[in-house]
Amino acid sequence: MKIIIYTVLLLVSTSLNAKYLDTKSCKECHDMIHYEHTTSMHHKSSIFKNELHKKIKAKVSPDKYGCALCHTPGASNLRALMTGEEQPSAKSTEQLDGVSCFYCHQITKVLELKHKNINFYSNKKSEKPTFLAALDKPDTSDKHKSKSNDIYKNSQVCMGCHGKKYNSNKVIICNGYNEFNKTSDCIKCHMPKNPGGTTKLNKRGRTQYASHEFLGIRSNTMVKKAVELYIAASKNSDMLEITITNKMGHSIIMQPMRLKYIKTTIERSGKIIWSNFKTDPMEDKEATFTILFKDKDNKQSNPAIAKGFKFNNNLKANSTKTIKYNIPTLQKGDIINSSWISYVVRPSLASKLGLEDEYTKEYKGVSKILEIK
Ligand code: HEC
Ligand code: HEC
Ligand code: HEC
Ligand code: HEC
Ligand code: HEC
Repeated sequence: MKIIIYTVLLLVSTSLNAKYLDTKSCKECHDMIHYEHTTSMHHKSSIFKNELHKKIKAKVSPDKYGCALCHTPGASNLRALMTGEEQPSAKSTEQLDGVSCFYCHQITKVLELKHKNINFYSNKKSEKPTFLAALDKPDTSDKHKSKSNDIYKNSQVCMGCHGKKYNSNKVIICNGYNEFNKTSDCIKCHMPKNPGGTTKLNKRGRTQYASHEFLGIRSNTMVKKAVELYIAASKNSDMLEITITNKMGHSIIMQPMRLKYIKTTIERSGKIIWSNFKTDPMEDKEATFTILFKDKDNKQSNPAIAKGFKFNNNLKANSTKTIKYNIPTLQKGDIINSSWISYVVRPSLASKLGLEDEYTKEYKGVSKILEIK
C-alpha cells in the first residue's frame, strides 16, 4: 500500500509540463542571480559537478539513482533514473543543471509526510512557464509569467529537499528542522539581500534582490556565524567550562558526513600545557559533532543500510550545552583558546575516498581567548 501511494505521489508531483528552460537562458535578464546561482552548491548538485556525491552514489547505490529526487530533480526521466531503468547522462542539460532555477521556481507546495517530504509543481500545460517567488507586483517578461507564493516567503520551499531523509530501515539520515520540529527562516540567513535589481533592466526600480549563492559550510564567513563559544575559568581552579550555543535554524549536523568540533588549549609561558585532544577530535566526544552509523552487527556502516547510530553527537537549533574539563590548576597569565572548526567531510572518510581541495580544507569558525588574571 505504502509503495503504491509513494508511486502515485511521485507521478503527480514530478510532472512538470512546461518546456524546460535551462539555467543559462535566465542570464540574459537575471545576470547577477544567474552568476551567484552557478557558483552555488545547488548548481553543482549532480554527479557530474560534485565529486563527493558521485563517489558516495557509486558506493551506496551503483545501479539506481534515487538521489535524483533532490540532486537532479528537474530530470525529464526522473522516475527511470530513480528505478534504475535509465542511468544519469552528462548529455542532459536538465541533469547538468542540478537543482535548477526552472525547477525551484515552479514548486507550488511542499507536502510533509511522516518519513519524507514531497515537492509539488504548477501543473498547468502552457507555452510559457509560471515562475513563483515573492516579488510584489512583478514586471512582465516575454519569457515567463510570474506569480507570488507564500512558500517563497516562509521558507517552506526549502523543505521538500532539506526537510528529512530516512533510509529503508527508518533510520533518520538528514534533518533540517529546528528545535520545535518546525521550519526556520532559511531565506533570511541563506538568501541575504544584495543591492541592485532583480533584472538588468530593472524597470520596477528595485533597490535590492535576494542573493542566490546559498552559502553554508564552505564559507568561512558563514561558519563564523554557526555557533557562539563561552569560556569560564579562573585562577587556582582546576575546572574549565566551555559553553557552546548553536545559533543556526537547524541542528549543527544535518548532513552526517560533516565533522565539526571545538578545539581548546591552555598555554603557559608560550607552551601548550593542556588540550582537549591530542591528534583526533574524537578523543573528546562531547566537543565533536558528527554522525556515524552502524549495521545490524553493530559495525560501522554507510547510512543507506544503517540500523542505528554508532556515534551521534548533535545540538539542536538555538540550543546550548556546557562541557566540563578537569585541567591543571590555572595560574595568572595562562591563556585559554577555544575555537570552532568544520570539515565538509570527516578527514578519515575524505582520504579513503581520495578527495581533495574543499573536502580536506579546515573551515575556521569563532575563536575565543581568555587570559587568566
Ligand atoms: C527576457 C527577460 C527574462 C528572462 C530571460 C527571464 N526572466 Fe525572470 N523575470 C523577468 C522580469 C522582467 C521579471 C520581473 C522583475 C521585477 O519585477 O523586478 C522576472 C521575474 C522573475 C521571478 C520572480 C517572480 C515573482 O513572482 O516574484 C522569477 C522567479 C524569475 N523571473 C525566474 C526566471 C528564471 C528561472 C528564468 C530562466 C529560466 C528567467 N526568469 C528568465 C525577465 C526575465
Ligand atoms: C530528500 C532529498 C535528498 C535525497 C533523496 C538525497 N540527498 Fe543528498 N543532499 C540533500 C541535501 C538537501 C543536501 C545538502 C545537505 C547539507 O549540506 O546539509 C545533500 C548533500 C549531499 C552530499 C554532500 C555533498 C557535498 O559536497 O557537500 C552528498 C555526498 C549527498 N548528498 C549524497 C547523496 C546520495 C549518494 C544520495 C542517493 C543515494 C542522496 N544524497 C540523496 C538532499 C538529498
Ligand atoms: C530540489 C531540492 C532542493 C531545494 C528545493 C532546496 N535545496 Fe538546498 N540543496 C539541495 C541539495 C541537493 C544540496 C547539496 C548539493 C551538493 O552539495 O551536491 C543543497 C545545498 C544547499 C546549501 C549548501 C550547503 C553546503 O554544502 O554548503 C544550502 C545553504 C542550501 N541548500 C539551502 C537551501 C535553502 C535555504 C533552500 C530554500 C530556499 C533550499 N536549499 C532549497 C537541494 C535543494
Ligand atoms: C539563524 C540563521 C540560519 C537559519 C535560520 C538557517 N540557517 Fe542554515 N546555516 C546557517 C549557518 C551560519 C550555516 C553555516 C555553518 C555550518 O554549516 O556549520 C548554515 C549551514 C547550512 C547548510 C550546510 C550545513 C552543512 O553542515 O552541510 C545547509 C544545507 C543549510 N544551512 C540549510 C538551511 C535550511 C534549509 C534552513 C531552513 C530550514 C536553514 N539553513 C536555516 C544559518 C542559518
Ligand atoms: C533552491 C531554490 C532556488 C533556486 C535554485 C533559484 N532560486 Fe530564485 N528564489 C528562490 C527563493 C526562495 C526566492 C525568494 C527569496 C526572497 O524573496 O526573499 C527567490 C527569488 C528569485 C527572484 C526574485 C528576486 C527577489 O529579490 O525576490 C528571481 C528573479 C529569481 N529568484 C530568479 C532565479 C534564477 C534566474 C535562478 C537561477 C539562475 C534562481 N532563481 C534559482 C529560490 C531559488
